[in-house]
Amino acid sequence: MNQPATAYPVKPEFAADTRNTRDDYQRLYAQSLEDPDAFWGKVAERLDWMKAPTRIKDTSFDLKDFRIRWYADGELNASVNCLDRHLEVRGDKTALIFEPDGPDTPAEKITYRQLHERVCKLANALRSLGVGKGDRVTIYLPMIPEAAIAMLACARIGAVHMVVFGGFAANSIADRVADSGSKLIITADEGLRAGKKVALKANVDAALKLPGTNSVETVLVVRHTRAAVDMQMPRDRWYDAVVDDQPTQCEPERMNAEDPLFILYTSGSTGKPKGVLHTTGGYLVYVSYTHEAVFDLKEDDVYWCTADVGWVTGHSYTVYGPLANGATALVFEGVPTFPDASRFWQVIDKHQVTIFYTAPTAIRALMREGEGPVQATSRQSLRLLGSVGEPINPEAWRWYYEVVGDSRCPIVDTWWQTENGGILISALPGATDLKPGSATLPFFGVQPAIVDTNGTPIEGEGEGNLVILDSWPGQMRTVYGDHQRFIDTYFRTYPGTYFTGDGCRRDADGYYWITGRVDDVINVSGHRIGTAEVESALVSHDKVAEAAVVGFPHDIKGQGIYAYVTLIAGEQPSDELRAELVKHVRAEIGPIAAPDHLQWAPGLPKTRSGKIMRRILRKIAENAPDQLGDTSTLADPSVVDSLVQERRVP
Ligand code: PRX
Repeated sequence: MNQPATAYPVKPEFAADTRNTRDDYQRLYAQSLEDPDAFWGKVAERLDWMKAPTRIKDTSFDLKDFRIRWYADGELNASVNCLDRHLEVRGDKTALIFEPDGPDTPAEKITYRQLHERVCKLANALRSLGVGKGDRVTIYLPMIPEAAIAMLACARIGAVHMVVFGGFAANSIADRVADSGSKLIITADEGLRAGKKVALKANVDAALKLPGTNSVETVLVVRHTRAAVDMQMPRDRWYDAVVDDQPTQCEPERMNAEDPLFILYTSGSTGKPKGVLHTTGGYLVYVSYTHEAVFDLKEDDVYWCTADVGWVTGHSYTVYGPLANGATALVFEGVPTFPDASRFWQVIDKHQVTIFYTAPTAIRALMREGEGPVQATSRQSLRLLGSVGEPINPEAWRWYYEVVGDSRCPIVDTWWQTENGGILISALPGATDLKPGSATLPFFGVQPAIVDTNGTPIEGEGEGNLVILDSWPGQMRTVYGDHQRFIDTYFRTYPGTYFTGDGCRRDADGYYWITGRVDDVINVSGHRIGTAEVESALVSHDKVAEAAVVGFPHDIKGQGIYAYVTLIAGEQPSDELRAELVKHVRAEIGPIAAPDHLQWAPGLPKTRSGKIMRRILRKIAENAPDQLGDTSTLADPSVVDSLVQERRVP
């Protein structure tokens, strides 16, 4: 952990030609805190407004006077900002490069003019199907251009999109559709991942048989693999049949800055996933500005963020940020290791990618394959690397830096969350010296603080829980349909601040080092999973009496899922049953939530009042039985010994 004070200084080439030098960063950061209205008012001029905002920041985290409003009297349309305003100067510039799952399928380049047309056509089609301002639309698509087109078409007509990751199963789709009250779903016949087919339409069909999903009137189906799928008329319509003949112009809806742009569900420590709601003006200002500054964007960059649009990174930094900035963004359908571990680097060479943004879990998986697959490629086009989603261990950082970037490209390690909308802590490549494993310093306008468990601020060097003291424009505005849950989850723990749920250390240079979640959220391969969700999936199996789920350190995934399961009386543990339970979780939530290890637990460590002591279960999963701490308050301390003995060695 103790890195030299300046491990990787700013590169002279970046310092000489950058949007923000070290001095700029210090000056602008100070200005952003001294006069947020002046600062963010000026930044907002980067967008095209139908009515320019005169009110800039109107926020308070004080529970007696709680409000988060940015640019509240401004009006704009997000799709106009991502498309129309580029047509004059960048109409023939490539907006999206689509690289399919397999290298033998040709790539597709879509110019801003073509993208504008395709978005307008779909927007007209949606309107013709009765979708309008404020209606919710579910998007359940693979990483194909239609995913971005669908988001922008919703934005154009003021519909609120709600993207569901293609790896989620029917139950998860149904929960989200029901909670959001979606009127229409856009899906595809099938997805493709590493050559394997994903039955997207069949999953939607199964979801729509579940209770609570009656709000859905129409399912639009993109022909992707051209597989035969069940079409239930009149509900199900082929996308091309509805879209192809639509006019290529579509009047954009005038949206208030605080009108919703999208809902995206994310896991918390308790209950079902929350519908994180983002609005139009502040979100778009924030993602476009952070995208330009953090990636030090230049007009001829070819920018590739590997995140799926099913996650917030895909929203902010595959679609909205880059397109608002008129950048060329690559959309990749596949995975890093298919057909082999050279795939990422080959795609970089093929499309001359200059900026590459991915997750530590991918880096670690590729690092395991050795340097050969990387060295087989040139990667000379690269100038900047990025990391997001989980802490990057210094070993993976150095491999990324030295092997992938040939020690030539800075790495921006960007810390943020679904709730944040955009990057809150990150280096700026022309301004910030890097330390492997540290997300470094706050972005403009962001005031992080570290508090102890009582909420007392820790000044200077120290470790504790990470809170943010004041609002930034990209912040979520509410939990869809449950504003009280929004306030209780984020603003009650340490009153007057936004609580991130992350632990954090600040070093002597003021650099931030995120240490991971301090709540019951596990970060598996950069994906958030609530332990409570996996537990409730397990206990929904008729042979399970009780389950407790914790995270444990995993070499590739960062954290893995470790489940302790108590069977109902009379049921016998067996390897078949173990496999069946893992399969059950995959079917209930989706493959990303499948436990890596499942241990039979004749009993769980509980206090006398019946509360499961997860601290103990975490230590057993980590294989640290000597660190169990005090077990004397347990109702039956002997269960711990049996769990330690029975631990399923990974
Ligand atoms: O624990 C932090 C971790 O991911 C969580 C947010 O997950 P999610 O909402 O899915 O958004 C992921 C992409 C923005 C955080 O609470 N996290 C994200 N980025 C980093 C990180 N941890 C350390 N370093 C990061 N760069």
